[in-house]
Amino acid sequence: MRLETHSRALGHIPTPPEMVAFMTRLAAPPPNTPCRVLEPACADARFLQAFQQAYGAQHRLVGVELNPDALSPLSVYGEGGKVGEFILADFLLWDTPERFDIILGNPPYGIIGDASHYPIHLLQARKAEYKQRTTTWKGKYNLYGAFIEKAVRLLKPNGKLVFIVPTTWLILDDFSRLRQFLAERGRVEVFYVGRVFPKVNVSAVVLRFTQGECGLALYDLSDGKWQQVSAGLRLCPSVEKPAYRGELIRFETAEWLAFERSGAPLGKLFHIHFAARSTEFRNSGLVRATPQAGDVPVLTGRNLAAGRIDYANCYSGWWMRREDGVKLRRFYGEPHLVVGHTKGARLVCAVDWRCYPWREEYHLIPRVGVQVDWGALERYLNGERVQAYLQALYRDFTQHLTKTMLKRVPVANPHAALP
Ligand SMILES: C[S@@+](CC[C@H](N)C(=O)[O-])C[C@H]1O[C@@H](n2cnc3c(N)ncnc32)[C@H](O)[C@@H]1O
Repeated sequence: MRLETHSRALGHIPTPPEMVAFMTRLAAPPPNTPCRVLEPACADARFLQAFQQAYGAQHRLVGVELNPDALSPLSVYGEGGKVGEFILADFLLWDTPERFDIILGNPPYGIIGDASHYPIHLLQARKAEYKQRTTTWKGKYNLYGAFIEKAVRLLKPNGKLVFIVPTTWLILDDFSRLRQFLAERGRVEVFYVGRVFPKVNVSAVVLRFTQGECGLALYDLSDGKWQQVSAGLRLCPSVEKPAYRGELIRFETAEWLAFERSGAPLGKLFHIHFAARSTEFRNSGLVRATPQAGDVPVLTGRNLAAGRIDYANCYSGWWMRREDGVKLRRFYGEPHLVVGHTKGARLVCAVDWRCYPWREEYHLIPRVGVQVDWGALERYLNGERVQAYLQALYRDFTQHLTKTMLKRVPVANPHAALP
């Protein structure tokens, strides 16, 4: 396998030098104290080199890397001589009695799975062992979550971790254990920097975690603001919580929290389901590529617009009898609200009065006793205030609207009422 392919399959995304410099400033050691410093998944050890340049040669530097091809001779010998000790090992399976004052770097990102769907397929054989060793592992866990946990476990009592990672852990349910794990052990500072990796579609934050302290601070350093942060500058957080218990990390303001409390959460009023999966349709024996008399198209996201459903065009490539929809999901048989699994934090919905089968999207069914004014609900959810609320709190933290976001959207009377 070519090195380039190999390193992509191990989640290699090099960190831009300006970002390395910014994070190295966030990882400043206490004055006149030699520290043990670790860079996990170090590749060319750019963080260790920057650390040595910024803070001198009195620190013990250690790099761990799995891919021998990624470790360059430069990483062993920097401009000022030998930079540190390099260990060829799988960081997640690496056993060491040593604990560190400072851990910094850029761990690999990606969900481990087969090559057809997931980029991190080289590590598939180790997945079971990772899972067993990682208490925060949940759902389709991302490798970077496991790296955060392992790094925290290697910190000294007042040690500091500085990692650049994707934004998804701030709000996705798969990371609820990780957020709680961090909240129980130290102070969580999150510097939102947005898209900083050239040509890579990842929105990022820098996490600074300090073992043994407490609370949460969220800083907005998007649009390149992080490049203007100089050493010693005191930053003003957008969100500050003296006590943090692992809840979602969002750009909350008094105004938007008041809006959120102004109605009942959508998730309390409705059951939120996802459509039947492609494989279920395929295996059902109910769909065909050429329509027979009376068939309807199986609908997808392309059939959905704000307040409107296109019942005519078949984008899924499948046709079936409308009455057979209930064999896949009972809720296809009753009029209900369809909400798009849209790109970004944007809500697009329409009521499906004709009860067609859907291959995608969220489907909202009122809980027992909930009275719904469908037209009003549809207009409200597609309206500007809801879009502004979603944008303000969640920015581009995930690629799509998530169930977690949807569940919290407030709905006040007369759109729907609790029993
Ligand atoms: C996102 S890159 C970061 C490289 C470098 N630290 C930087 O910031 O430019 C991640 C690195 O993690 C390495 N890697 C992937 N899985 C690993 C593992 N389980 N243990 C150690 N290194 C790993 C990859 O080979 C790759 O070099």
